[in-house]
Amino acid sequence: MTHCLQSVVEYMAFQQFSLIPAHVAVIMDGNGRWAQKKNRPRVFGHRNGARRVRELVEAAGESHVKYLTLYAFSEENWNRPQDEVNALFKLLSQYLKSEIDHLHRNNVRLRGIGDRTKIPKSCLTLLEQGESKTVLNDGLQLTLALSYSARSDMVSALKHIAQKVRSGEIDEGDICESMIANELSTRELPNPDLLIRTSGEQRLSNFLLWELSYSELYFTEKHWPDFCRKDFDLALASYARRDRRFGTVAKNELSTSPELVQGST
Ligand code: FPP
Repeated sequence: MTHCLQSVVEYMAFQQFSLIPAHVAVIMDGNGRWAQKKNRPRVFGHRNGARRVRELVEAAGESHVKYLTLYAFSEENWNRPQDEVNALFKLLSQYLKSEIDHLHRNNVRLRGIGDRTKIPKSCLTLLEQGESKTVLNDGLQLTLALSYSARSDMVSALKHIAQKVRSGEIDEGDICESMIANELSTRELPNPDLLIRTSGEQRLSNFLLWELSYSELYFTEKHWPDFCRKDFDLALASYARRDRRFGTVAKNELSTSPELVQGST
């Protein structure tokens, strides 16, 4: 094998089997149960959950995670009592108002994904201001999923592709995985390497369904308002022990068959 080819193979192996996940996605679950256990209203749990977000963003940056995507409000969350919905968007607005400058100073880029038509105007304005202010930052890439539904995202992507076929811009035969991925709202992000869900539930709840196909899943009993730096480190340590095969074979077999790295999905 030439030196150049060997370097490429080593680089690809490093990327695929890096001990630090490049992209961590988090379902911040359990605010309500945390508050109930303390005989407090659910909003108390959300308020304490919001406080944990800053800590997580700092922990991710310090751990050299490049992308962090947080499920802050799902499309299904609109069905919660109006008071709770209002309180959540108030907290989100407060978070954006108080954090944008701090994020910017720390070279964090902020993005939002989800249905913007439903987000209250005041919150949307803050999100968009944060996005424009941080657009050139190349540190941690922080994405907030707001009014987000993976299925709706896929439906929009497929409608857009169907339009292109109808207009003759593309052929039906041109449709492939990368074309679909490029139509999703996450098109600027790599697929998550690690998904963390707090609070003991073990489901995806309509979050990044396409993008999580080969992600490692990590579930913890901790409720989100209790999820601290140590818990994040435990999740990263668990990830570092995983053997990611991407449908191929184990790492030790791979070192003798480098061509399998290139053939993997
Ligand atoms: C799930 O807990 C959590 C949410 C639906 C909202 C997450 C929001 C925050 C952590 C605060 C604001 C976010 C940011 C980015 C500042 P749940 O209410 O479903 O808990 P339960 O399952 O115990 O009822």
